[in-house]
Amino acid sequence: MGETASVAGLEGVVAAETRLSEVNGRSGEFTIAGFPVEELAPRATFEETVYLLWHARLPDAEELAGFREALAVRRGLPEGIVRLLRSAAVAGVPAMDALRAAVGALGVEETDGAEDARSIVARFPTIVAAYRRLLDGEEPVDPDPGLGHAANYLYMLWGERPQEGAVRALETYMNTVVDHGMNASTFAARVIVSTGSDMVSAVAGAVGALKGPLHGGAPGPALEVVFEVGSAGRAEEVLRSKLERGERLMGFGHRIYKVRDPRADVLAGAAEVLYGSGGDRGIYELALEVERTALRLLEEYKPGRNLKTNVEFYTALLLHGLGLPAGLFTPTFATARVAGWTAHCMEQRKLGRLIRPQSVYVGERGKKWVPLEKR
Ligand code: CMC
Repeated sequence: MGETASVAGLEGVVAAETRLSEVNGRSGEFTIAGFPVEELAPRATFEETVYLLWHARLPDAEELAGFREALAVRRGLPEGIVRLLRSAAVAGVPAMDALRAAVGALGVEETDGAEDARSIVARFPTIVAAYRRLLDGEEPVDPDPGLGHAANYLYMLWGERPQEGAVRALETYMNTVVDHGMNASTFAARVIVSTGSDMVSAVAGAVGALKGPLHGGAPGPALEVVFEVGSAGRAEEVLRSKLERGERLMGFGHRIYKVRDPRADVLAGAAEVLYGSGGDRGIYELALEVERTALRLLEEYKPGRNLKTNVEFYTALLLHGLGLPAGLFTPTFATARVAGWTAHCMEQRKLGRLIRPQSVYVGERGKKWVPLEKR
């Protein structure tokens, strides 16, 4: 039997029952622990969303204060991790590789998964911000326990307290991408814990899966295209020549969504508010023109494939509007998605079942051994 693309991509294969999130690719609906993404993401703080994923309900005021505190006190990095990041920065290691190495070096608590989850989620932004500053030749900024999770991330990046609008935009982004069904990095994490391995290993593996351009690595290249286009009049020419060369347009198409990714709408709304209050308005208008042209040309070059705008296109625009460099787009995605990974790890652990699929052997059989000198 020949291997088909869908076998290779496990399309339509159900790998788990989850109460964490549901992606409906036909209707374009995305539900996070009971909430439509457009209901939850623009309103919740990131801590509320993480609590929701881990506890299956929103916290009350007292629980939320306790949870914020529990994350805030775990933000600091062990000295060994800071040393590791310093060496990586000197060698110019890409941020996602440095993040994977730093995560892998975090100690495993080996208690229940909840303690590992708290310290991993709490430390992710600290690792990313510290590494960015080291790459820029600056010293890391200590976390501020008085700030919320998202605000503190921006504070550790910039060394000054962020504006409320920037924090809201980042919380909306982080809530939107916190989890997304059985995406590749989440599946990788679940496979790892299903063997009885620890959550640190699962998250390190998930970081590796996320960085690929077909998953979380797309927003940097998506923004590059907008810059390459440069002015609205060139959108058609630039995008058409990419499609003529058989290139994919980053930020478009999705394995599950055959309609517009609902997360793109949530982030488009957040981008409109963010750019409406200042910032690089020119790039915002240009991106909208690139999107319109891309959708038209994808219909022309790939008719019937239903290639629509995905979350990464507006991720690029929103994070650029927040002043984050493209090198931080995927690491910032990881600081949000890590809450989903850990929630899936806990769910998978409760299941206690090894994930071990099968393959179909299509190689030769019955061969005879040939001694080395006769090959
Ligand atoms: N630009 C041009 N053509 C495309 C694109 C694109 N962005 N995406 C898919 N196609 C074409 C593909 O070449 C194929 O054409 P044909 O039928 O002629 O061979 C057809 O559409 C079907 O593609 P596929 O490879 O079977 O679809 P897939 O389900 O494997 O791919 C995808 C999903 C996201 C990998 C793909 O759409 C892609 O590469 N997009 C660009 C990268 C990107 O934006 N990635 C972020 C995804 S969203 C983040 C997340 O949720 O993780």
